[in-house]
Amino acid sequence: MIANRQIAFAARPEGRPAAETFIMREAPMPVPEAGEILCRNLWLSVDPYLRLKMHDRESYTPPLQIGETIPGRSVAEVIEARAHGFSKGDLVAVSGGWQDFAAVPAKAAKLIPLRTPHPTAYLGPLGMTGETAYAGLLQIGKPKPGETLVVSAAAGAVGGLVGQIGKVKGCRVVGIAGSQEKCRFVTEELKFDACVNYRTPDFARALKKACPNGVDIYFDNVGGPVTETVLPLVNTFARMPLCGLISQYDGQQAGDPRALAELMRWILVRRITIRGFIVYDIAPNFPDFEGEMTKWLDEGLVVSREHLSEGFDNIVPAFLGLLGGENTGKSIVRIAEPSSLL
Ligand SMILES: NC(=O)c1ccc[n+]([C@@H]2O[C@H](COP(=O)([O-])OP(=O)(O)OC[C@H]3O[C@@H](n4cnc5c(N)ncnc54)[C@H](OP(=O)(O)O)[C@@H]3O)[C@@H](O)[C@H]2O)c1
Repeated sequence: MIANRQIAFAARPEGRPAAETFIMREAPMPVPEAGEILCRNLWLSVDPYLRLKMHDRESYTPPLQIGETIPGRSVAEVIEARAHGFSKGDLVAVSGGWQDFAAVPAKAAKLIPLRTPHPTAYLGPLGMTGETAYAGLLQIGKPKPGETLVVSAAAGAVGGLVGQIGKVKGCRVVGIAGSQEKCRFVTEELKFDACVNYRTPDFARALKKACPNGVDIYFDNVGGPVTETVLPLVNTFARMPLCGLISQYDGQQAGDPRALAELMRWILVRRITIRGFIVYDIAPNFPDFEGEMTKWLDEGLVVSREHLSEGFDNIVPAFLGLLGGENTGKSIVRIAEPSSLL
């Protein structure tokens, strides 16, 4: 019998998760029902929102339960199809979870076109990551040529795409990232106009210098002290798509007790529009997303860097590394090769 390796949630972490937060186990191979496809996961996405799901409190998705297999998007190969429109050997993007095999509803599977040179793009620019950047920036940020767009976690998966889309729309784009090396990547490879390292004592002054006309759009991926530093720079009628708050996900920061009052003051004084969003709420408003992003990728207007880890044993380290800022670009773990390559 072929076993299905799985990584499950073992214990709710206090603060930063660790190896003990997870347990590896073996389960029987799932059996697909009518309307389902049986998939072998090849590449897994690791994502920050999973940290939010580890708290036992209300969020936009239910909390993880102890013993639950860790969910997540994957690019997988169909090994048995009990649904129309799918065949053995197809590549699909699915919610396959952190495991070798998953039986998933065919209607929730995205068929990856044959001969796609980079199937993992369906975890990055052509997947949920790209939809988040595209829909969040266009619907809430409403970029206009000549405006200044600031993006936090700029060397990460979503942030790197947001800035490049902002360049396509004619903005001056300024990134914020956690090291000089990441800032170099953001300006040299992603072609942002500037990037500022938030881990230097000079951060506030350097950010102000990089935004001589103030900030019209702040695409926030991190919250906390980085956002507090951006706020005084925003212009009247600025827009803030609130995409993520990764600096807060561990839930242990004491925080400045005046921060909320300061935030409310800036919202009023500068008439800022802040809107939180979750990708699945707004992505359906953009039916042209895949076609437009594919064109930008083909034309080299958008480039995508992957932070690739190898092997099932590296899923947890890749996730912990993501929370610690070890990744540059979209964090992906390869756990198997497509059978055509075996
Ligand atoms: N709303 C939605 O639907 C949606 C969808 C996808 C993702 N998101 C959110 O978007 C954000 C980015 O996600 P992603 O998948 O693209 O991850 P990512 O940016 O590729 O990786 C996370 C990055 O966050 C940065 N970071 C970690 N701790 C930080 C801190 N305390 N202060 C500032 N930066 C910190 C690290 O970069 P540095 O080295 O630069 O610190 C790290 O590389 C996350 O907040 C995520 O939850 C939201």
